[in-house]
Amino acid sequence: MRLTVVRGRVELAERAAERVAALLGACPESVLALPTGRTPIGMYRRLVALNRLGRVDLSRATLFNLDEYAGVPADHRGSFRAYMRRLLWAPCHLDPARTHVPRGDAADLAAECARYEAAIRACGGIDLAVLGIGANGHIGFNEPGSRFDSRTRVVDLDDSTRRANGRLFEGGLAPARALTMGIGTIIESRSILLLAAGADKAAAVRAALRGPLTEAVPASALQRHPDVEVLLDPAAASRVERDA
Ligand code: F6R
Repeated sequence: MRLTVVRGRVELAERAAERVAALLGACPESVLALPTGRTPIGMYRRLVALNRLGRVDLSRATLFNLDEYAGVPADHRGSFRAYMRRLLWAPCHLDPARTHVPRGDAADLAAECARYEAAIRACGGIDLAVLGIGANGHIGFNEPGSRFDSRTRVVDLDDSTRRANGRLFEGGLAPARALTMGIGTIIESRSILLLAAGADKAAAVRAALRGPLTEAVPASALQRHPDVEVLLDPAAASRVERDA
């Protein structure tokens, strides 16, 4: 595991975007898994800027998002599909055939999860998974207690996750269920880039990187992976550094 503490969110965004750009420079047809949330917003802005400068070509990449809320129409402003369209797909004019998010409004959610898993396999698996981390240690929407061998499935979200992600939903509470790539699906990615910023992530980051491997801390599964890069701002790194 390679750990870098950057100066702040701007450098985090730059480094993360450069990692993606370097991969696509070497292999433009790479398959990426991508997160939503607050942490990667700067990375997407930077990728769009690099794209405009002709320094990164996303047009041949295949993009799979990690998760989506269940029961939320694709055009709802809180959907992860809407987030990706706004922040990356539309500004980079990406081909919809190469951008994938689980369909949270599918009639049969279990079938949709199986279809998503098969689509990832059909593309040859994920080359690079970019991840955020929840304050409770989740990756994707794999909440504490998720099995390390879990696959794409429907999950119940913790109340803390619903509140943390509730901004764009009525009552300030995100939906109760989501579709998420499993931990098993994520850790089969050939490389992983984990991003965390903010003091509210410090305990989860410490538990994930330095604590025991336990399903109580989903991100601790990353300790098993041979190629993980972690980018932290000083606040998110504060407990790792002190205890290391
Ligand atoms: C979102 C996702 C989540 C987030 C995590 C951190 O697609 O997979 O695991 O990465 O909840 O969210 P932020 O960045 O908003 O703190």
